Formats: sequence, C-alpha cells, structure tokens
Amino acid sequence: MPVVYVLNGPNLNLLGKREPAVYGTATLDDIREKLEERCKARGVSLVFRQSNSEGDLVTWIQEAGEAGAPVILNAGAYTHTSIAIHDAMKGAKAEVIEVHLSNVHARESFRHRSYISPAARGVILGFGPLSYYLALEAILENI
Ligand code: DQA
Repeated sequence: MPVVYVLNGPNLNLLGKREPAVYGTATLDDIREKLEERCKARGVSLVFRQSNSEGDLVTWIQEAGEAGAPVILNAGAYTHTSIAIHDAMKGAKAEVIEVHLSNVHARESFRHRSYISPAARGVILGFGPLSYYLALEAILENI
C-alpha cells in the first residue's frame, strides 16, 4: 500500500485556539481526520505527525525519503530558519510539498523567506486546511 507522510512543525498542535484570525478554528485532528478519509478512499496509508522539535522533522523526512514516500510538510516557523530541514529534504531525496495555512507573503517580512521552497516539489499556501487537502490531491494524481 502506498504511504503518504504529513509532517507538522512547531505550534501546529495549538491549531484551533492559536491566533484563529490567522489560522482558523480547525484543529490539527480535524485536518488529520479529513486526510485520513481521503487516503482510505484511495487505498493509501497515512502517516500524520507533529513535533515542536526541528530534529524530529529532520529524522522523519529522512525516514520518508528512505521509504520513497511523498511528504506534505508544514514546517511552521522552521520554514523561515531551518537549513537542517532544507538539507534533509535534499539529502533524503524526499518528494516534499510545502504547505502553509496562511499566506506567509501577505504577513511579516520575516515570513517571506522559505528555506523549504528551493528543495520542495511545490508549494501551496494561504488556503487554510485546504492547503493540505490540495497537496494530497497533487500527490494522489501520481499514485
Ligand atoms: C505557518 C506559517 C509560519 O510562518 C508560522 O510560523 C506557522 C504556521 C502556516 O501554516 O501558515 O507556524 O506555517
């Protein structure tokens, strides 16, 4: 059975109560449930994880790369700082779609730079939870 990884970075465990004007009211569990439903319908296995630690994300990207599994990655604030995640994406040859709930380009300038984008297959941002669902559709097209 094909596997898809969905990896979530720091503070995304707070979704639903974290700055709802920016990130909406859906929780990370709501997003996981929707993705699970769609994966089940397509006979795909979903690995869905969240960590506040950069190293966990690095390890999980390496794991996905070794398994040849595509990744949907919302690296949260590490998007704007993490050379380690950039290197993991390249080193593990993982196919990664970068997603963000918010349109980072319409926000503070420190969010305009992404270390993830140059190593990503594509980027979807600004659509709330739909950013994740659209990324999954892009992956399912090729499964
Ligand atoms: C985010 C955008 C980041 O700038 C921020 O640090 C987050 C969430 C998003 O999904 O919109 O934690 O990745």
